[in-house]
Amino acid sequence: MRGDVELAEEIMQRADALAACTEEAGRITRVAYSPAMRRANDLVAGWMRQAGLSVREDAAGNLLGRYDARQPGAKTLLIGSHLDSVRDAGRYDGPLGVLVAIACVQKLHDAGERLPFAIEVVGFCDEEGVRFQTTYLGSRALAGTLTAADLSRVDAHGVSIAEAMQRFGGNPEHLDLARRDARELIGYVEVHIEQGPVLDRMTLPVGVVTGIVGQTRATLTFTGRAGHAGTTPPGFRQDALAGAAHVILLVETLMLREPGLLATVGQIEIQPGASNVIPGLARLTVDLRHADNTVREHFMELLAAGARHTARQRSLEVKHEIVQSTASVGCAPEFIGLLKQAAQAHVPQVVELPSGAGHDAAALAALTPVGMLFVRCKEGISHHPDESVQTEDVAVAVGVLNDFLRLVK
Ligand code: HGY
Ligand code: MN
Ligand code: MN
Repeated sequence: MRGDVELAEEIMQRADALAACTEEAGRITRVAYSPAMRRANDLVAGWMRQAGLSVREDAAGNLLGRYDARQPGAKTLLIGSHLDSVRDAGRYDGPLGVLVAIACVQKLHDAGERLPFAIEVVGFCDEEGVRFQTTYLGSRALAGTLTAADLSRVDAHGVSIAEAMQRFGGNPEHLDLARRDARELIGYVEVHIEQGPVLDRMTLPVGVVTGIVGQTRATLTFTGRAGHAGTTPPGFRQDALAGAAHVILLVETLMLREPGLLATVGQIEIQPGASNVIPGLARLTVDLRHADNTVREHFMELLAAGARHTARQRSLEVKHEIVQSTASVGCAPEFIGLLKQAAQAHVPQVVELPSGAGHDAAALAALTPVGMLFVRCKEGISHHPDESVQTEDVAVAVGVLNDFLRLVK
């Protein structure tokens, strides 16, 4: 029987192996339905089988491994996280939660033990939303909140979610097959790196999550008129990028004005994109987060009004699109209590903390009770190749999740 440290060492090796499933040499980028995701699913499926899980992919392309209960007909606890990544990502954001879940089933399998409920380990196919801008694709399919409109969104090459899902082996025509019946579920629990500095500063290996802040993802598209950089004097320019630049600074100004508001412009697209041409189009993404949904929505409106004002001043058109809005969610008090109880034997102090990062648990909260356990990551660094965790902390997470499984009724 392998102990938690040995299982944690294996998890670290597997995270390294998963990091090689990337579409960009020299860095980790694994977006939804990509060849890199196919390699990742196949690799993780093998580890799931070693742990005694029966493996399948659902209609949305999520990877699922099932470990039956002592008795047929028992309810199911979902545990896991996502297998996709941001661009130039770290190797633990997502995969750590899937690998810790597999390790806990491995312990049960090694001991020939079954629990009074079934376990399904889930590797979600698209939490980050890098390829299509819509986040939680996989978990929303499972929660039954993915819409036909979502499936028609296209990536930078004009490939729709439905097409990409189909090519990957999914079944976009029958996403209802991916939707789970809440009556069969106990809930969903996710182990994830904190992606913030709190546990590192408190020198604690894990913490219990109280809730996940809401987020709005939007685009602002400024349309002016492309023109010759050398012959178009001021006053005759309709410079889309200059307008966008003004709004990017407005995003930062609003964030600095409102405590708890985080606002980011992460991507900008310029057309036609030549150094001697005045940009005729500039499209930027906006990521807005706040624990209070009304504050978040209010500031999205303020920002849109500011963009319209700037466009008028500069004779530009501006189009504002809300790509996705996810409300703040609370973790289930019962799971918070059981995770705290499970953690007591493993840490000197059990802390609770909110999540500023989004997680699949936010999408699954629409379907079933959710809980999360955070693992310390060095200096809170994430969405960056320097993301790192300690093997000892991963061992603690395995121990806590393992004890949690024995407390769940
Ligand atoms: O963006 C987030 O908060 C998460 O990492 N998807
Ligand atoms: Mn992430
Ligand atoms: Mn994540």
